[in-house]
Amino acid sequence: MNAENVPVTLPMFDREFNSAPGVWYRRLRQTGAICPIVLPTGTPAFLVTRYDVAREVLRHPALTHDLEFADFSSIPGFTEDQAAALKSQPSTVANTDGDEHHRLRAAISGQFSPRRIERLRPLILDECRRAISSFSESVEVDLVREYASPLTMYVICEIIGIPDADRSQFAEWTRSMLSPRQSDLANMPVAIGNLQSYLNRIVRELPQDLPEGLIRDLTEAPEDVRLSDDEIAAAAFLLLTGGHETTYGLISTILFQLVADARLREATYKSAGSVGAHLEEFLRLNSPLQIALPRYTKEEVEIAGVRIPAGATVVVGIMSADHDEAVFGDDAAERIVESGLRRQPSLAFGLGSHYCIGAALARLEAVLAVDTLLESFSSIELARPSHAMAWRPGLVFGLEELPVRLQRAT
Ligand code: HEM
Repeated sequence: MNAENVPVTLPMFDREFNSAPGVWYRRLRQTGAICPIVLPTGTPAFLVTRYDVAREVLRHPALTHDLEFADFSSIPGFTEDQAAALKSQPSTVANTDGDEHHRLRAAISGQFSPRRIERLRPLILDECRRAISSFSESVEVDLVREYASPLTMYVICEIIGIPDADRSQFAEWTRSMLSPRQSDLANMPVAIGNLQSYLNRIVRELPQDLPEGLIRDLTEAPEDVRLSDDEIAAAAFLLLTGGHETTYGLISTILFQLVADARLREATYKSAGSVGAHLEEFLRLNSPLQIALPRYTKEEVEIAGVRIPAGATVVVGIMSADHDEAVFGDDAAERIVESGLRRQPSLAFGLGSHYCIGAALARLEAVLAVDTLLESFSSIELARPSHAMAWRPGLVFGLEELPVRLQRAT
């Protein structure tokens, strides 16, 4: 909070803020474990800044994802019609709790079990190699637009089961929706609408060229556990939005750190020969989701000495909690490669019943993408100084582009 005790607005759409959000979160952490803030949407909320309190809130029974409990009346300019429209969205794992959440999660979680994900290893590896083989040594390559983003899009299309013929259009809508350039912002709601209509249509029509995948599996599930068509389309939409941007954000920040810092790269690979050995620490330091999804108080509660009224919005500051110096000490990059130092797991994938469904997939994609790229080139250099890199505005922490020059290993 500022000197007048007026809640500050979380500046997630400010590029400057996104180049070093840790500084802002550190200051906020010093003011309290739970701070009143305003989200970029104008929603007043309580932001949890400290690790121990974040763990408590992520599993607190008085907090729910169920929008029925949300009080939107405090959002300036938000009409009752808009609130009703939000509350009548189809149910997904991200806006339900209890039995309803369990039903929806059970229907899709099998697709993301570690065993099922491990079967995707050859496919992901092939796709990494295919992209790498197209890179030329003589020109600049943007590892976000030409590698991390298309790779993660390809994998999610395979899992959902998007027909080949529709993939480039599908990727185009997703890009306009998730990574809008300033000039595309007006197209964002149109892209969201197009994507939702497309998913609704293929779930209902099941076109002949619909490949194996989540949509086909869910529509063929036994009647007693089958989700409705709206729920299947909403699940596909959620998996796409939740799984693409976060994963390529993570890949972009790890690659950036390892390319920019030769010592860190050498030390990372020295012990195990794979970034996998240090992935958890990279995840902690670069938490792709800065804040968890909003939760709403079902009743008035007191947490960490702060009274929170019923209907309030509470967001867990994952990036803040994962940098809590009371738990993790300082944030020196070398910590990544000092074995045995981590005492507490990071909250990058959340905790409790809403723990990230795609965690095993994201881990596998990140390890394969980073290892395969670094193994393929004897030299990789940033094509611009580190401080001139463009960090993405928005909820997900990551680079907008990562221009490099490459030299192949012989
Ligand atoms: C590095 C990449 C990723 C990060 C950092 C991440 C992070 C998270 C976090 C923190 C949550 C919990 C949110 C909360 O409790 O409010 C979550 C939930 C979720 N994630 Fe991920 N995620 C990633 C990748 C993926 C992928 C690849 C998928 C699927 C394709 C996915 C699908 C989901 C879904 C469906 C949920 C909601 C689960 C529930 O509410 O039961 N995520 N993710």
